[in-house]
Amino acid sequence: MGFKELVKNNEEILELINASERCLDMMNYTEHGLRHAMYVASVTEKILKKLGYDNDEAELGFIAGYMHDTGNSINRNYHGHVSAMFAYRILKDLGMPYKDINTVTAAIGNHEEETGTPINAVSAALIIADKSDAHRTRVTQKYDPNEIHDRVNHAIKKNVVYINPEKRAISSRIYMNATSSVMEYFEIYLSRISMSEKAAKLLDCTFKLFINDVLINSPKEIKRIVTMPEKGDNPLD
Ligand SMILES: [Fe+2]
Ligand SMILES: [Fe+2]
Repeated sequence: MGFKELVKNNEEILELINASERCLDMMNYTEHGLRHAMYVASVTEKILKKLGYDNDEAELGFIAGYMHDTGNSINRNYHGHVSAMFAYRILKDLGMPYKDINTVTAAIGNHEEETGTPINAVSAALIIADKSDAHRTRVTQKYDPNEIHDRVNHAIKKNVVYINPEKRAISSRIYMNATSSVMEYFEIYLSRISMSEKAAKLLDCTFKLFINDVLINSPKEIKRIVTMPEKGDNPLD
């Protein structure tokens, strides 16, 4: 059996995912359970495969995505670091080669925008997959219209990540209704979008964000034009 199947069928990991969901649900967070874990795992794997990375690396992407939020079962703060420590021990117990374990743990430990940065291809794909998961299905039964995360997620009725391997282009297309607004989306997602842009760069791709089919970000690099003062130019003062 490959490691992907071993991880998917592992009872301990499943319980850590369920425990994380219970903790975050108590704190009124959006859904972070098995649905989120499977979404991030499969999108991470697909991104790597579509961009030409081999099956082994794509499998590591799936595993990193599946386990990336398990640390929330201990505490929301530094949950990426704790998830990585869990993954190290569990994958070691399963007999995964150390080099592969380190690829996975570096990716997991760097997925949060507060402390992380894209560190390898698996990490970059995981960041793009994780940050793209904004959708109304993440809003729990405790939907609170006064809570911005609930409003924004509830407004998003469709969310798709597209990969164009020829053009090395990644785009995230979000369709939202008037339950929230683009301004509110950016209030909570701006740092996540910036991190996705950085992640795409590591994968040698551009990253475009479309909301309701309008391009929101500027994926081209800004070229700095430096002009030296010419004879006759005067300082203002
Ligand atoms: Fe996370
Ligand atoms: Fe996550």
